Amino acid sequence: MSDTVTVLGMSGSLRKTSFNTAALRATAELLPEGMTLEIADLRDLPHYDDDVRLAGYPPVVQQFRDRIKAADAILFVTPEYNYSVSGVLKNAIDWASRPPDQPFNWKPCAMISASGSLLGGVRAQYHLRHMCVSLNCFPLNQPQVYITEAPKKFDAEGRLTDEATRGFIRQLMTELKSFTLRWKRGTA
Ligand SMILES: Cc1cc2nc3c(=O)[nH]c(=O)nc-3n(C[C@H](O)[C@H](O)[C@H](O)COP(=O)(O)O)c2cc1C
Repeated sequence: MSDTVTVLGMSGSLRKTSFNTAALRATAELLPEGMTLEIADLRDLPHYDDDVRLAGYPPVVQQFRDRIKAADAILFVTPEYNYSVSGVLKNAIDWASRPPDQPFNWKPCAMISASGSLLGGVRAQYHLRHMCVSLNCFPLNQPQVYITEAPKKFDAEGRLTDEATRGFIRQLMTELKSFTLRWKRGTA
């Protein structure tokens, strides 16, 4: 069995200067050896419509579902909108959550949130953890990475400059790797 762990990451913010998307980009520089990160852009997913689903998943949705299925683990990076995840992320999760062969099923995941507030999106993460119950997707419990006061942690080009935060993300991804390998080997 391969010791490589492939991760699919997604950011719940579409804006160009998003702190969450910047954190996702930074994560690609902070991976342990033997881990790869691909990024799914949620921009082109249509609004969830069950009539559309019943007529057949649109290709863009099917590709998104296939990428989740193919990954060993998922990384959610989410803003906090009104104490929860953004509609963009919720919409993506809803598309992926329907049968057949629900791709989040039994998948390890980790999460990061960034917000301008002192709480760093903690309430969005708790909602996301709750959603994972419905998805049967298994979040890493520790460490928890909340990027508080996000404008202070990134430079004008959107680079994550805060060393402590870089360290937390490195630790998160190292733990996700070991959690996922235990999962793949059936020893979790
Ligand atoms: C509709 C909306 C609701 C928001 N609600 C919250 C909130 O409940 N808690 C919070 O900490 N920040 C809230 N914010 C502020 C966002 O966390 C902040 O704009 C953040 O930078 C968005 O993430 P992004 O930089 O990745 O786009 C809200 C922003 C928007 C646009």
